[in-house]
Amino acid sequence: MLGCPLPRLEARVLLEAASGRRREWLIAHGDEPADEPAAAAFESLARRRLGGEPIAYLVGAREFAGRRFATTPAVLVPRPDTETLVGFALAHAPARGRVLDLGTGSGAIAITLACERDDLRIVATDRSEAALAIARRNAEALCPRALETGRLELRAGDWWSCIGDGERFDLVASNPPYVADDDPHLREGDLRFEPRDALAAGADGLDALRAIVQGAAPHIAPDGWIALEHGYEQGAAVRALLAGRGWREVATRPDGAGRPRITCARPFL
Ligand SMILES: C[S@@+](CC[C@H](N)C(=O)[O-])C[C@H]1O[C@@H](n2cnc3c(N)ncnc32)[C@H](O)[C@@H]1O
Repeated sequence: MLGCPLPRLEARVLLEAASGRRREWLIAHGDEPADEPAAAAFESLARRRLGGEPIAYLVGAREFAGRRFATTPAVLVPRPDTETLVGFALAHAPARGRVLDLGTGSGAIAITLACERDDLRIVATDRSEAALAIARRNAEALCPRALETGRLELRAGDWWSCIGDGERFDLVASNPPYVADDDPHLREGDLRFEPRDALAAGADGLDALRAIVQGAAPHIAPDGWIALEHGYEQGAAVRALLAGRGWREVATRPDGAGRPRITCARPFL
């Protein structure tokens, strides 16, 4: 790794993937030269990383809430910010409740809930079949029984289109796309490699949040919750969307870095 311009931690993660060796082994043998295939694989990964490809895509996985999720360019790389949404869902889903995860991507939210709470029945949806294939792979690895028994169900469709008339949930969680179409960040760094459909949502970044709020009321139990992740500058706009439709107990909560990250509410009575 000597002379490699990558941050040390990134270089070590790529070296683990290139060599097939665990971190402990690499630390213990840090002064030995890598064999030729491992050196070549490392060089190729390092070059791609320097070109901006997310580490999670290069090594095929990302840790989320203490579990390792398979991660490919078909899905958003799960972010620590989203653990705030998971924490809210774990604390507010009632015993034996029904939970809906709209836009599940890798399945990070739904699968974490299924693993942490075996009393919950969970539906996870996405418009992208490719994303759902990754979510299925993760569920098979992390909570196979939930998938086999139907306690965790994966469905394809545009937001509420795959939810039946009269189907109601005790808690609806979503981390939808929320970046404005012309946000320059979409053309920079890691974001360039992630699916645009997972990131961009119209001129103000609120199209997906509007669609979700617009269709939500008939699908949430009267004493249920909706919890929506959004950009740290979108809290007021999301509260206005919900309050404008008569939702109650509308409040924005911070993520681990103290930035406004999720807005939660209960249906009007
Ligand atoms: C920001 S990603 C979140 C992925 C995952 N839930 C997470 O937190 O890591 C948003 C997800 O919404 C999905 N999506 C985008 N538009 C959609 C739509 N109209 N209907 C359903 N899913 C959609 C994308 O395919 C993507 O997987």
